[in-house]
Amino acid sequence: MCKDAIIFNNKPKGTKLEAGVEYLICACGRSKDGVFCDGSHKTTECLPKKLVVEKTKPYLICLCKRSKNFPFCDGTHSFYTDADIGKNINIEPLPL
Ligand code: FES
Repeated sequence: MCKDAIIFNNKPKGTKLEAGVEYLICACGRSKDGVFCDGSHKTTECLPKKLVVEKTKPYLICLCKRSKNFPFCDGTHSFYTDADIGKNINIEPLPL
């Protein structure tokens, strides 16, 4: 995770991606749609994540920008509330 990343949303977004196409996925949480890089990271130390998928289908893209399987959702967003959107905070889950 980029240390400058803000939480774009506290839920992922289903996004259809085409096989073989190179995408730049926003890692900073500042792009307009939260999914694709639009250059808004330039004021941060974040860089977009290059992604090429093998199958054309919808993928759940992480919008909290804290997934351990970034750019795909791993459920980490469930630790964040609506009040956390737009903030750069990190909540480490308690060990079970
Ligand atoms: S706009 Fe977020 S990584 Fe480029």
